[in-house]
Amino acid sequence: MRILLTAGPTREPIDPARFISNYSTGTMGYELALEALKRGHHVVLVSGPTALILPKKAKIINIETAREMFSSVKTNFIKSDCIIMTAAVADFRPTKKRIKKIKRADNIGNILLKKNPDILSWLGKRKNKRLLVGFCMETEGLLKNAIKKKREKRLDLIVANKIDHKRSAFGKGRTSVVLIGPDSNIELKNVVKEKIARIILDKIEEMWYKKPHP
Ligand code: CTP
Repeated sequence: MRILLTAGPTREPIDPARFISNYSTGTMGYELALEALKRGHHVVLVSGPTALILPKKAKIINIETAREMFSSVKTNFIKSDCIIMTAAVADFRPTKKRIKKIKRADNIGNILLKKNPDILSWLGKRKNKRLLVGFCMETEGLLKNAIKKKREKRLDLIVANKIDHKRSAFGKGRTSVVLIGPDSNIELKNVVKEKIARIILDKIEEMWYKKPHP
């Protein structure tokens, strides 16, 4: 399969020295890229800033902002069979792009934000026969929100991850997820991301090879 993967956080600049972002480290996306390559799939990885070692053999596109990620996804999704959006895309960006660093004496008060594009929703409207996989992180209403996102964004599979007080959803280590597919759920409790990646790819391959293709 030709797999387009997004991973890591995006950064939304406030001024030349500061940005808005989130706790994503890119681990889940990179584990998926490694596993997909091991299985002989072709991988394009659109990655936000991470401290991880880039998987050899993947085509890497480094981006910083949500809008840069959106533009890379737009140019690459046509040539893909499956798109996996593990990236923690920042939903908002500062309205103003400041050229000069904000000084302590500036008393800026509030930073105004505006919404970033929802890349996954955009893909959902254009997917055709492609498989579309989303992730979601929630502090409450995990299953209810995940099912809603899966339906509204027209996903084939969503991986739901609860944000707990230890923030185990982020970074290396074990976490708990629920995979919500077309006809069944798989619950994984306290599992390493390497194994989660294998199970996600098993599910993707099962869906892909079951589907009629032109
Ligand atoms: N996503 C995206 N574009 C955005 C925000 C999120 O493509 N601007 C994708 C993520 O990569 C993920 C999925 O949408 O696969 C769900 O992200 P999440 O942050 O949980 O949900 P949101 O749609 O942003 O909804 P909310 O913030 O209301 O929970």
